Amino acid sequence: MTYKIVTLAGDGIGPEIMEASLAVLEKVATEIGFDYEIIPCDFGGVAIDKYGVPLPDETLKAAKEADAILHGSIGDPKFDNESVRPEQGLLAIRKELGLFANIRPLKVYDALKASSPIKNVEGVDFVVVRELTGGIYFGEHRLDANEAHDSCTYTRQEIERVARVAFELARMRRKKVTSIDKQNVLATSKLWRSVVTEIGKEFPDVELAHQLVDSAAMLLITNPKQFDVILTENLFGDILTDEAAAIAGTLGVMASSSAGESSALYEPIHGSAPDIAGMGVANPIGMIMSVAMMLESSFGKKEAALKIERAVEQTLADGIWTKDLGGEATTAEIRDAIIARL
Ligand code: NAD
Ligand code: IPM
Ligand code: MN
Repeated sequence: MTYKIVTLAGDGIGPEIMEASLAVLEKVATEIGFDYEIIPCDFGGVAIDKYGVPLPDETLKAAKEADAILHGSIGDPKFDNESVRPEQGLLAIRKELGLFANIRPLKVYDALKASSPIKNVEGVDFVVVRELTGGIYFGEHRLDANEAHDSCTYTRQEIERVARVAFELARMRRKKVTSIDKQNVLATSKLWRSVVTEIGKEFPDVELAHQLVDSAAMLLITNPKQFDVILTENLFGDILTDEAAAIAGTLGVMASSSAGESSALYEPIHGSAPDIAGMGVANPIGMIMSVAMMLESSFGKKEAALKIERAVEQTLADGIWTKDLGGEATTAEIRDAIIARL
């Protein structure tokens, strides 16, 4: 079979990291022996420039028909004061494809332990399951001169389905779910906590803990080892995963998958990094590890994913680091080093 992969390179460093990750994919496909077709589509700011919208119909159609979608990054400061923005395209594709469960693993590479601002990261290993198609992101937004309004809604069904993803995942790991909310203030969090508790009863072999988001933010730094699977709503998950990236040493290595009802999208968690875009120094590892997640989760190619992970580990162990890690290697040098180690 020939896998159809839609690529959305996007804005800023998106095209640079996409190029590197596709070179790695090509190498691993040759080594392992499988066929795929790349279907590049316009998305984000580049699509606004061409068509006036961040998610053109043809892109959405191609994404719906694909076996998997790879996304680089979107966003450009030139749209900061515009009503049509690249970010709307990302929210729209998540909603249209029903990508409700965003899985963001925290992997602490041995070679990067000293780069982490956290003193003792030995043994830290958790995955964040972030709800991705509900909450305040998708409520009504209203902005007037003297008043602004954002509404946050969650339904029981939205909480149930993402909670099940977290519990299933915990079953394959250390069997602990920590659900993070703000139930001391928010109605959506009160429903969140009660529904997660109910779903937890279906998984008696999995330990369930609840944590308020403010103290959870502190515990991520002071005692990150306690976490196995973190389950949380959309906005909290966005913020906490960038915080978690600090433990890894850089945002540049964080990968993710967004699973939906049918297709799945894979993307690094960072943005378009306008401050370094076009300089050829972006860290492509988050994007490359997103390709590894695609190979394992969408195509069942665990061996290919492991090969990539080992080559990444070896590259970092050999001290070949990009600027975000204090190194001098370019995006292309990281790409070539990983390919050489495959
Ligand atoms: P950002 O993640 O783009 O950058 C934050 C910092 O991390 C910057 O200093 C950047 O240089 C650095 N960084 C990020 N990725 C890196 C990489 N791969 N290698 C080396 N350094 C890296 O966040 P921001 O500056 O807050 O946002 C910039 C734009 O990106 C905004 O328009 C935002 O909306 C958008 N954004 C998009 C996505 C996405 O496409 N999924 C995610 C987050 C932010
Ligand atoms: C992410 C990003 C997006 C989000 C933005 C660009 C809409 O920060 O993927 O983490 O907040 O979900
Ligand atoms: Mn984010």
